[in-house]
Amino acid sequence: MLLFLFEGVLGRGTLTDGNMNFWQKIDKPIIGLSPMDGVTDASFRFITAKHGGPDVTFTEFVNVEAPFHAPHTLMRDLMYSEIERPVVAQIYGHTPEMFYKVAHIVCALGFDGLDINMGCPAKKVAAKGSGAALIRTPELARAIIQSARQGIQDWRDGQTLADLGIDPEFSAEIGLINRLRGGPEIGAARPLIPLSVKTRVGYDRIVVEEWMETLLAENLAAITLHGRTLQQGYKGNADWDAIGRAVAIAKNSGTLILGNGDLKDMEAVCRRVRETGVDGVLLGRVTQGNPWIFRAKDQVKQALNSAAGPTIHSPFVSLEERFRVLLEHSRHFEKHSMIRSFVGMRKHLAWYCYDSPGAAELRAQMVRVSRIEEVVQCLMAYAGSLGWQFELAEPALREHDARITNAASWLS
Ligand SMILES: Cc1cc2nc3c(=O)[nH]c(=O)nc-3n(C[C@H](O)[C@H](O)[C@H](O)COP(=O)(O)O)c2cc1C
Repeated sequence: MLLFLFEGVLGRGTLTDGNMNFWQKIDKPIIGLSPMDGVTDASFRFITAKHGGPDVTFTEFVNVEAPFHAPHTLMRDLMYSEIERPVVAQIYGHTPEMFYKVAHIVCALGFDGLDINMGCPAKKVAAKGSGAALIRTPELARAIIQSARQGIQDWRDGQTLADLGIDPEFSAEIGLINRLRGGPEIGAARPLIPLSVKTRVGYDRIVVEEWMETLLAENLAAITLHGRTLQQGYKGNADWDAIGRAVAIAKNSGTLILGNGDLKDMEAVCRRVRETGVDGVLLGRVTQGNPWIFRAKDQVKQALNSAAGPTIHSPFVSLEERFRVLLEHSRHFEKHSMIRSFVGMRKHLAWYCYDSPGAAELRAQMVRVSRIEEVVQCLMAYAGSLGWQFELAEPALREHDARITNAASWLS
């Protein structure tokens, strides 16, 4: 099942050593990629790491029941490449014992951190008491955090997956994935990986003060706060004042606070960091079709460390590069998506085409493709309609180096 190899790009090494976890080693403000179910899969994260370079990356959330009911899905969702490090696995559920077991699996897969989702508003998640519903059951939330932490600790102290009664075939697959991925040998030195929570500012009203007291009592490495309540879903605006209040409460606690919600560009990141004093931010929807956004992250750090106002230059991305990365992403998805169909790539294709001239027609075509060859055909037809010339010869594509020439003239 797992006879394929993720790109062997050099990673940044295992980042937990001594008393410092990877969170503490990142220059502030931390600018990371937010988890998005159905979006931030292994291909999206690979492309974002390669062409943008967030400070930290999260997987899509994974149900803690998955190892026991849908192990193939779990393996697919917890695939990553070394280039993504530091990479954090995000899990959700409502049963502390399951968090204990899955924490072992996450450690065995060599993740740099474990994050618990306490922010998902979706009915299928919250109706069962998971995700953002945990804001209403703080005792259960704390029990879950404690179980996950105990799982990380016991794994570090030598407990094996076999000790937990996990199917040996499943354990063997984890070992195989680790070997195929390359990178540091997992299990040789077992690090105590940091635990974090991503949540919202309330359930049906803002309760950030009480909720922060609950979470801070658990000495988490980091808390990400999306500035909306569960009831808001994605409506209205993220409340950055509430995030700022959380920062004040967390001061000197040792727990980092990351803000999240509605950040549209790096200037907004600068502004929000200045206003609230957050230790960092996670970017979600703005990264769709836009892995390059992270290229400006060092400008943000420099601007914030100087008295100068934030003048951030967004990276210029030519249409040639946009389409080259679109094809690279498609190829990676086709090769690594396992049981996902190419249909899952369509939304990404549309996002990449958002700013192109005549984008509406191109997007309409992209959301109908089922194979990479059709993507190529669409781009060729698009070029033809605009009188441009492409060179998209199949051999070049096969070598992972799809080129679209004469691009300079596209924008003129
Ligand atoms: C399609 C989609 C899927 C999401 N899936 C997750 C998830 O799996 N885990 C999580 O913690 N948040 C998830 N979120 C929330 C985002 O991580 C983020 O908190 C939210 O989109 C607000 O940030 P933004 O305005 O930068 O997008 C998801 C959001 C979207 C739009």
